[in-house]
Amino acid sequence: MSNAAGTPVLSARGLRKEHGRGEGMVHAVDGVDLDVSAGETVAITGPSGCGKSTLLHLLGGLDRPSAGEVSLNGRRIDDLGEKALARMRRTEVSYVFQSFHLMEELTAVENVELVALLAGRSPRVARRRAEELLDQLGLAGRARFLPSALSGGQRQRVAVARALCNEPLVVLADEPTGNLDSAATLDVLQLFKDLHESGQTLVIVTHDARIAATADRTFSMRDGALADDNRLSGGTTGQPGALAGLEG
Ligand SMILES: Nc1ncnc2c1ncn2[C@@H]1O[C@H](COP(=O)(O)OP(=O)(O)OP(=O)(O)O)[C@@H](O)[C@H]1O
Ligand SMILES: [Mg+2]
Repeated sequence: MSNAAGTPVLSARGLRKEHGRGEGMVHAVDGVDLDVSAGETVAITGPSGCGKSTLLHLLGGLDRPSAGEVSLNGRRIDDLGEKALARMRRTEVSYVFQSFHLMEELTAVENVELVALLAGRSPRVARRRAEELLDQLGLAGRARFLPSALSGGQRQRVAVARALCNEPLVVLADEPTGNLDSAATLDVLQLFKDLHESGQTLVIVTHDARIAATADRTFSMRDGALADDNRLSGGTTGQPGALAGLEG
């Protein structure tokens, strides 16, 4: 499915990634085609080791494919040089990880503003943006706390604020509720629903059926390949998010 302009925000063609070589070679991603439209939430599920994280890394330019193409807004990213790739990762794609990956020695607001500073924003603008986001995510009172003083759900909300800070084209989340208890999971679940409603384009790897249920489309991954669940069931195909804008 593509957006009104016809260009998917994120697109993969014939994507492959092998790890290792010789007898130990693993086909972690084995011929994936995927188009994600503006405002769409796509969920990917599948057993451990089927290649979900490897696929997300390829989609976000954290790793290079062995073969195939990845495009962001119609522009190839798999063949970018290191500098261009680093710039793209700072501003156009962002990640939310299962284990949060916050800098433990920085406060919540410092964690969030850091990515804006790295993208070249002034300290004043970066701080204001970070504070706004923490405020929106219900963490205004926690902005000066270190991650060690926050609950898992609060840490993940800081990580989401960081992911949104530079208004990325797409947010890639790898098991975002995997380390959370059930109350925090509900909290983060609601956050992703809100992001979806705000028009943020999302690709979420998850074992949580409740997250998958909020997606426009879900895919099952097995042995490095994707199957479109909606097509398999012939049932409820999703629709792109009502708001196809990308305002952060
Ligand atoms: N850096 C690497 N070197 C060698 N093999 C790797 C590497 N990263 C992943 N693999 C292998 O590639 C396959 C896919 O791994 P991947 O981490 O993408 O799976 P996953 O679906 O994310 O699993 P999980 O649900 O456990 O996170 C696995 O067989 C894994 O052992
Ligand atoms: Mg994984």
